[in-house]
Amino acid sequence: MTSTPEKRVFSSRLLSCLIAISMFFFILSCSLLFRIGDNSFVPRSIYNLIVVDHGSLEAEVESVKRGVSCDPNQALLKAFMYDLPPEFHFGLLGWRGNTNQIWPNVGNLSDIPKYPGGLNLQHSIEYWLTLDLLSSVSPNVPRSCSVVLVRNSSQADIVFVPFFSSLSYNRFSKIEGTEEKSTNDILQERLVEYLNGREEWKRFGGKDHLIMAHHPNSMLLARWKLGSAMLVLADFGRYSDEIANVNKDVIAPYKHVVRTIDARISPTFEERPTLVYFQGAIYRKDGGVIRQELYYLMKDEKDVHFTFGSAGGGGIRKASTGMAASKFCLNIAGDTPSSNRLFDAIVSHCVPVIISDEIELPYEDVLDYSKFSIFVRASDACKNGYLLNLLRGIKKEKWTEMWERLKQIAPHFEYQYPSRPGDAVDMIWKAVSRKVSTLQYKAHRKNRYSMSQQFLNAH
Ligand SMILES: *[C@@H]1O[C@H](CO)[C@@H](O)[C@H](O)[C@H]1NC(C)=O
Ligand SMILES: *[C@@H]1O[C@H](CO)[C@@H](O)[C@H](O)[C@H]1NC(C)=O
Repeated sequence: MTSTPEKRVFSSRLLSCLIAISMFFFILSCSLLFRIGDNSFVPRSIYNLIVVDHGSLEAEVESVKRGVSCDPNQALLKAFMYDLPPEFHFGLLGWRGNTNQIWPNVGNLSDIPKYPGGLNLQHSIEYWLTLDLLSSVSPNVPRSCSVVLVRNSSQADIVFVPFFSSLSYNRFSKIEGTEEKSTNDILQERLVEYLNGREEWKRFGGKDHLIMAHHPNSMLLARWKLGSAMLVLADFGRYSDEIANVNKDVIAPYKHVVRTIDARISPTFEERPTLVYFQGAIYRKDGGVIRQELYYLMKDEKDVHFTFGSAGGGGIRKASTGMAASKFCLNIAGDTPSSNRLFDAIVSHCVPVIISDEIELPYEDVLDYSKFSIFVRASDACKNGYLLNLLRGIKKEKWTEMWERLKQIAPHFEYQYPSRPGDAVDMIWKAVSRKVSTLQYKAHRKNRYSMSQQFLNAH
């Protein structure tokens, strides 16, 4: 008689145990499906990328799936990379290889040093591009095949300079103890000296060199001496026209800091109660005056979120939630014309409102930003009522069109390792290859009459 309730207790315990176990596996599998970090080999939404050049990208995705390795003759770009000592790149991350080892073994994820988190990551482009180049000659790394590393510099389209200049600026700009110069300054001086002594640099005066300087304050010393190179930048804000311009340089997106929303569960028009979202430092020097003006114009509106806030102390998490609950996200010029806020908005599928007259945008030659963003001139934005009337006038149908486009193009702004067709790394290499074409076009035109001159001279 007594065994029955015991049994019942036992079976209900068993049942709750089973439920707990299955819940555990359910959550585990969900997190595997939806929340895959940067350093994962697991393909994420590789099958549902919808991108600029649909056909060729699909073919690329197919070959990545089949694990086809890169044929150097098929790659868009052949790159030669200097074997700079580790103190210029992975050594800045604390990585120490064996004696004479210059590069980490990128075929093994646990051998790859991590880039520091937080706001450093915004400018980590140098890290992702270098890793991708290294992996192009590492067996068993499935990746897109836009660029391939070659060992012979005369066969290369570009010469890649693997200096982690943004990290060097962020972490090593302070003068320590009795030193006279910061590590950041010393590295830049040594880089200039190194490049000036190289045959590869002398060949075209550095024009075919790719140098990464994404943080606006990186390469502050060396930029004056290496300005002939192709630069990978966030914007042209702190450069003079001769050193940086759209003709030769490539604009790369910031690495976003908020989490990416899965396109399949992205909140719709009705599910985003906030009309306009902005969180950031409100008082800024330089171009930031407009932030203050907008603040006073909009602070009393009920469906507007416009607050002071820093990235630290849970600010990033708050921004993730806030942007995902908003229809429009403001991107207002601050210290510099660009900021990571635009890219945070894109991966939150919050329609960006760009108020920054001097901004340069990544891959704008192949991407029409007006299909998923609103551009407002600073002078208009400051007129009383202008911005809110404009945004309130964009109804559900029009907004949803832009939101659909945002969900399609968001993968172009993801940095990851290994890289995938159509992601930020891949898009940057493609942008570089378009610059190389322009460079070659100019060189060929210059050659037109030079051959005849040579024949005449020989005569
Ligand atoms: C990858 O690296 C880790 C740590 O360095 C090592 O323990 C492991 O054996 C390596 N795996 C392979 C497959 O080489
Ligand atoms: C590098 O390539 C050039 C041009 O293709 C060739 O002439 C040269 O012999 C190559 N050098 C080496 C070391 O293979």
